[in-house]
Amino acid sequence: MDKFVITGNKKLAGEIKISGAKNAILPIMTATLLTSGKSELINVPQLIDIKMMAHVLRVIGARVELEKNVMSIETEHASFYEAPYELVSKMRASIYVLGPLLARFGKARVSFPGGCAIGTRPVDLHLKAMEQIGAKIEIEHGYINASCAKLQGTTIRFAKTSVGATANTLMAAVLAEGTTDIFNAAREPEIGSLIDFLNNMGAKIKGRDTSHLIVRGVKELHPTTQKMIPDRIETGTFLLAAAITKSKIKISNCFPQNNQALLDRLKQTGCELVIDKEDITIFPTNVIKPVDIVTYPFPDFPTDLQAQFMALMTIADGESRIEDTIFPERYMHVAELNRLQAKISVQNHVASVKGVKELSGADVMATDLRASAALVLAGLAAKGKTTISRIYHIDRGYDRIEQKLQRLGADIKRIKG
Ligand code: EPZ
Repeated sequence: MDKFVITGNKKLAGEIKISGAKNAILPIMTATLLTSGKSELINVPQLIDIKMMAHVLRVIGARVELEKNVMSIETEHASFYEAPYELVSKMRASIYVLGPLLARFGKARVSFPGGCAIGTRPVDLHLKAMEQIGAKIEIEHGYINASCAKLQGTTIRFAKTSVGATANTLMAAVLAEGTTDIFNAAREPEIGSLIDFLNNMGAKIKGRDTSHLIVRGVKELHPTTQKMIPDRIETGTFLLAAAITKSKIKISNCFPQNNQALLDRLKQTGCELVIDKEDITIFPTNVIKPVDIVTYPFPDFPTDLQAQFMALMTIADGESRIEDTIFPERYMHVAELNRLQAKISVQNHVASVKGVKELSGADVMATDLRASAALVLAGLAAKGKTTISRIYHIDRGYDRIEQKLQRLGADIKRIKG
């Protein structure tokens, strides 16, 4: 297994270009199953999760190619309506095939996703919505068996806002008979981007960026081509890399409006930001003011930046409080950050971070994608050498992060395992 070795306490400088958004691309890849023919996704990075989703689609019978950041997906021969355990257990997002397979073939067999490092992560909201829209759901031998004669438009009120359940429901509803009203829908930019893709395929969805989506079912869809939106979590991670190393960096190719909650908190820490249409320049502050965060669904502070923000708070001038209401167990990075001499304690699902003068390099272990990013940031700021093992987690969702950081002047090396 590969490792990162970082010699920290060095300033970064320069410009970094943001890649396409993993969490927008994954559902869009499965949306191509809603029709027969060749769709093209532009601005797709080489990430392990994206390769895994390509594998899921190939098992179903699609032809998937990724060349120079353009992914083509040919679904003419996609007809095997199953996502097997071997794949779903490696990547929960495989559940995104449920809605499209049901809508196109009236059948889907998807392995029941298990827990993961950031919590138990149930799929009850997905299943309930599929039932409400007319599917029969049976759980058997660890598999979700879903079937329907024809999906029927209905009213769905989510008890909790869920990105995944909103995406799956949208993908089922676009080919249903009649109109589906979705209340308490997720408003994440990745959902907006899925709506654009589905509408480009010929779907009729209204209410983009609001929590009430109205889907008028259509008889059929057609393949399309779309540019993928920039990754707001990668954007945030690089902004925080600049803040923690007290460096000036320009982040280009991003959509600043998708990071407003983070930008507001960064300003409160004392950083200055110059925001343009598609880029952000961050001017650091020497004394980082402590800032509390609580994660909530978009447009509030994202859970996927909680760990990285906590890394910044470890060297703030005072104490901060961090609470993750989306995944209340998502604190695996705390013990590892403490190995770098951070002072963090967690009580009743709330982390208290006492800022220290400096972090000190150590051997640490990555436990999940965003936890790994937090350790990279902490390693960049820490004095001495930090070795991060199990970095395959970071390759799941960051596009060659060490190469991008090296271009900014960071001393980070990948040691092949
Ligand atoms: C998506 O996961 C993202 N994954 C996650 O990113 C992200 O952390 C999360 O949304 C929240 O923003 C992808 O887009 C592939 P949810 P998802 O359904 O859809 C509860 C990363 O690091 N819930 O919005 O699985 C759930 O437990 C990853 O890139 C139910 O109770 O998240 C959580 O508390 C990790 N029942 C809340 O809803 C359900 O059926 C929101 O989860 C579904 C969810």
